Amino acid sequence: MSDSDDRFLRIAKLGKRFGDGQNLVQAFEDLDLDVHKGEFLCLVGPSGCGKTTLLRTLAGVEKASTGNFSVDWSDKDKTTPLSMVFQQPGLYPWMSVEGNLRFVLNASPIETERHDEIIASFIERVGLTKFRSFHPHQLSGGMKQRVSLIRAFCVYPQLLLMDEPFVFLDYQNRMILHQLLLELWQDQRQTIIFVTHNINEAVTLGDRVMVMTASPGRFKREVVCDFPRPRDVVELRKNADFGQTVVEITEDLKEEIERAQAMEIAGRADPFHIDGASPRARGLDV
Ligand SMILES: Nc1ncnc2c1ncn2[C@@H]1O[C@H](COP(=O)(O)OP(=O)(O)OP(=O)(O)O)[C@@H](O)[C@H]1O
Ligand SMILES: [Mg+2]
Repeated sequence: MSDSDDRFLRIAKLGKRFGDGQNLVQAFEDLDLDVHKGEFLCLVGPSGCGKTTLLRTLAGVEKASTGNFSVDWSDKDKTTPLSMVFQQPGLYPWMSVEGNLRFVLNASPIETERHDEIIASFIERVGLTKFRSFHPHQLSGGMKQRVSLIRAFCVYPQLLLMDEPFVFLDYQNRMILHQLLLELWQDQRQTIIFVTHNINEAVTLGDRVMVMTASPGRFKREVVCDFPRPRDVVELRKNADFGQTVVEITEDLKEEIERAQAMEIAGRADPFHIDGASPRARGLDV
């Protein structure tokens, strides 16, 4: 990665293991990475290679076993450092759409006088004004994930960690959410680390895609996706380099997935493997 001085996140020799002895699991090891301020970085890798654990470590939920990382937060008291978006929308079921946004805004340093206006504008932006007083169970899956997205963005975080946020959406909703995410990010330009199994998604969204090896995860390759911005998710697919980039990453990843499967067959699977139902069975998703 670049040696310029706008590095926001610096990861050095980072490793994480769980348990010990027979139960030792090395989730990832020896990770070195610099991430620019405002960069959109995607992580792809076989199931079980430590992507979620890496996000959790960066969020401070897990403690690194080896190495370290540092984040160049600016004005931490006046801005929200970090937001996370997960596979499940994770909305509070007893709160309305508006209430879910107000809850995170109340916990943020943003002045209370601005909350109403921020809530209204984000809800309008995702076309949910009519649904603002609805509760999560009254929304479709795509709508819930839209709320989850604006709940993360409405506090203007400096770092956004996203763990397969669109994995349960159909193709059409995914495209809508991709475009929305790109537009929200284009406005705020915070640093995003986005985990996905979907290579198309990674290349559509990212400035750079880091491909990880099979467990224990290491960085195998970085792929720069310097397609012009702002991006239109449909137009981008017409770019010949887009398809080529997807193919390159797919080939890299296929190798790692085969390695992960071979390890599993050899009985070196993760200790939670039950009866062939391991999540590692999940294959390539392009
Ligand atoms: N709390 C924990 N205790 C013990 N082992 C854990 C724990 N959390 C994760 N692991 C192990 O760490 C490894 C990496 O898990 P992680 O969830 O980070 O993988 P992942 O790359 O996100 O996989 P997926 O793509 O399936 O989501 C796995 O072998 C998993 O069993
Ligand atoms: Mg995961």
